[in-house]
Amino acid sequence: MTSTLLRGRTLTFLRWPETIDDHSAWRYEEDGGLLISDGRIVASGAYADIEKQAGDGARRIDHRPHLILPGFIDAHVHFPQMQIIASYGAELLDWLNKYTFPEETKFRDAQHGRRIARLFLDEMVRHGTTTVAAYCSVHKASAEAFFAESHDRNMLNIAGKVMMDRNAPDGLLDTSQSGYDDSKALIAEWHGKGRQLYSITPRFAITSTPEQMEMAGTLCREHPDLHMQTHLSENHAEIAFTQELYPWSRDYTDVYERYGLLGQKSLFGHCIHLSEREADALSSTGSVAVFCPTSNLFLGSGLFDYQRYRRRDRALRIAAATDVGGGTNYSMLRTMDEGYKVIALNGEKLNPFQSFWQLTRGNAEALSVADKVGTLEAGTDADIVVLDARVTPAMRLRMETVGTLAEELFLLQTLGDDRAVREVYVAGRPAKSTIAI
Ligand code: GUN
Ligand code: ZN
Repeated sequence: MTSTLLRGRTLTFLRWPETIDDHSAWRYEEDGGLLISDGRIVASGAYADIEKQAGDGARRIDHRPHLILPGFIDAHVHFPQMQIIASYGAELLDWLNKYTFPEETKFRDAQHGRRIARLFLDEMVRHGTTTVAAYCSVHKASAEAFFAESHDRNMLNIAGKVMMDRNAPDGLLDTSQSGYDDSKALIAEWHGKGRQLYSITPRFAITSTPEQMEMAGTLCREHPDLHMQTHLSENHAEIAFTQELYPWSRDYTDVYERYGLLGQKSLFGHCIHLSEREADALSSTGSVAVFCPTSNLFLGSGLFDYQRYRRRDRALRIAAATDVGGGTNYSMLRTMDEGYKVIALNGEKLNPFQSFWQLTRGNAEALSVADKVGTLEAGTDADIVVLDARVTPAMRLRMETVGTLAEELFLLQTLGDDRAVREVYVAGRPAKSTIAI
């Protein structure tokens, strides 16, 4: 097995950076090396040290002066929504009924699912994202298409077919039994196959009957190692409708609580309008709140209070995500740029190290996959992004005045997009330069 030796400015996080000067929270090497073999990082550190371990046979790739980071992670995204991104003029429930549900009915056609899965993962790689937690459509074939494509590329992805048995068009409904059976079959076929991970995915309380919510809880009990993903407290009309459908509930979170859906591997998209009780329920179970800034702005849903959730006595675990196609960009750089603005509207600031921690190690920890991805630590999988802060004329010009790593990261976040992603490695193999155009 030949190994690969990457050279560049390496940056990886050890923990959440409390401040912009919290240097012990990250490891940065001005002249860094990464030795990769068999899809894994074998060693990382100063190039001079790593080079000695590499031996003559290693393939050497010099990425200087670019930055080498762990690949980005997107903790909530809908792959069947590629052709409705940028759909005008509606808030959540109207947007779902007018654009999203009709679009997702197309995925009854397995061939359509395969085409979009391929284009979706191309887009992820192009933007430097090497792991996603993805929603498929209700159709089993859409999840099969997603996993097959992900497996072919040897990507570590988390995904599930959505379960939804009411309040959507006929072509988009399963039943509590078929949702259970299809999920079981997909788990048996795909969970743990190569790098694939299955997530139990009841779309949200509105599109599931109590019977289906029970079934989702049963699946979680039967498979405690699996992720569970759904939507929570995104929009006021959604919250009111949920209260009507589950009149016994204390609040929206209580619905998921009642069916046993909270836990360390439970990912709740949005979580914008949570009461203190709801935030306590999430934090005490280790559940994850997923921040989707471009989507929350685009659909006019509200401002996620990132710093309040982090700072409260019982801090929430937080991930960040695009939520395409409610989200408006595939790029996690663009996502954190909008995230910075949302947080600023709440009167706080997220410093660039905190942002890049969130995109990498922070999201990996939130998804419970930090032993595999999200850092440059030896023994983890070699999912890597190479970033160029001078890639456009405007960025090049601004870089003339940049003097610190923090400023460079902030520039990448504020002006960067897929163009700034020079290369991506998935399990050690170049993945961006090899995308068929
Ligand atoms: N809530 C239920 N389904 C969806 C979806 O597809 N996108 C968003 N943003 N919210 C949802
Ligand atoms: Zn979503």
